[in-house]
Amino acid sequence: MMSQEQNDLLTRVGRGTDAGSVLRLYWQPAALADELMTARPVVPVRLLGEDLVLFRDLEGKLGLIDRHCPHRGADMLYGRLEDGGLRCAFHGWNFDRSGQCIEQPGEPEGSQMHKNIRIRSYPVVEKNGIVFAYMGPGDPPPFPALDCFAAPDTHVFAFKGLWECNWLQAMEVGIDPAHASFLHRFLQDEDPADSYGKQFRDKAGETDIPMTRLLREYPRPDIKVEETDYGMRLISLRHMEDGRTHVRVTNQIFPETICIPMSNEMTITQWHVPVDDETCYWYSMFTSFGRPVDKTLMREQRLKEHRLPDYAPIKNRANNYGYNPDEQRDVTYTGMGLDINVHDQWAVESMGRIQDRTEEHLGRTDVGIMKYRRMLRAAIDNVKNGQIEALPMRGDAETTKAIRGPISIDAIAQTEGWEESWIQSDGARRSGCAWDATL
Ligand code: FES
Ligand SMILES: [Fe+2]
Repeated sequence: MMSQEQNDLLTRVGRGTDAGSVLRLYWQPAALADELMTARPVVPVRLLGEDLVLFRDLEGKLGLIDRHCPHRGADMLYGRLEDGGLRCAFHGWNFDRSGQCIEQPGEPEGSQMHKNIRIRSYPVVEKNGIVFAYMGPGDPPPFPALDCFAAPDTHVFAFKGLWECNWLQAMEVGIDPAHASFLHRFLQDEDPADSYGKQFRDKAGETDIPMTRLLREYPRPDIKVEETDYGMRLISLRHMEDGRTHVRVTNQIFPETICIPMSNEMTITQWHVPVDDETCYWYSMFTSFGRPVDKTLMREQRLKEHRLPDYAPIKNRANNYGYNPDEQRDVTYTGMGLDINVHDQWAVESMGRIQDRTEEHLGRTDVGIMKYRRMLRAAIDNVKNGQIEALPMRGDAETTKAIRGPISIDAIAQTEGWEESWIQSDGARRSGCAWDATL
């Protein structure tokens, strides 16, 4: 349990807040590149409680600027994309992608006033299907060479989805390895051959055991957590009756990202990005170590479950997440269908917009959550003391750029000597990879 004050400290993200100041020191997903694939590439972005407009100018370069015009506050989303910038539709002030006002067509001829006018703007970079923004002070940090960034575009698919809750409870489901045995339980196993693009439906490691069965039959993982240069690594051990152990390696990448195995071929790197205090988006990069990603199929699978343009899930609180008691009895643990995203969405939204952590009771399986909260509190203290370089991946730039991986894998090993097994399985996968995935 924590105090209300502590809960506010860790969850609130607006400008000037404690957690918000930590999040602003890292690149944040602002949009999918797909969203800008329109005749008029201008989209609204609400990020960390700030209302912004993302646009691609006529040179093809991206700009992320304040939603409100600094003249008299009109909405820049309805601006005209022309003449090297985005031009406010009220009096025609034109702003380039850096936020500089380059023209005020209604001011007297020869006026130089525009030189002193800037609209708030943030640097943006596009990486493998996601547009990232840096909203913090000073220079942005370099990107680490995570697999999702190191892989070529052909091997990465990006998507996102809206969840109606605070970012922290959304992220915390990703560092809670025990829930997969319950929330995502399938009472029957499907053929793993039909598992493409889906999580927890492949075979476990090199065996013929479906992941669904393994998770169902071994619900008490032994969870080990260690701090790393990028955040933390979680190793969940499920000791099986036959003397073997299932080793699942997942990661928290500071501050709000997880990296987990999806299948033997793919991993998911997933950001839990605050829209504001009470809403967040998950942004995922699905990275393949095997074949190029079938983006058409993966997009189709996910578009069936989401509504555009806001990527809101079609199953949601308003329709009870599709809850069906017959299905809950016979097919799934939740009765909410086979898409595990819906299960996670229900779990985190059903806590309330901001989970009341003054009422919670953490158990042994919550060891990752406890450690993460300590890391976030330490980061908040360091920011307050001006020691930004003490935060993960905010120290020496070369060290940050050299961070690779992280290893995210399901492996099966003899219980004796499991410690080496996941490193070996991962090494084998990387050595056979078509792109340079060496660590
Ligand atoms: S309010 Fe935007 S130009 Fe006047
Ligand atoms: Fe989950």
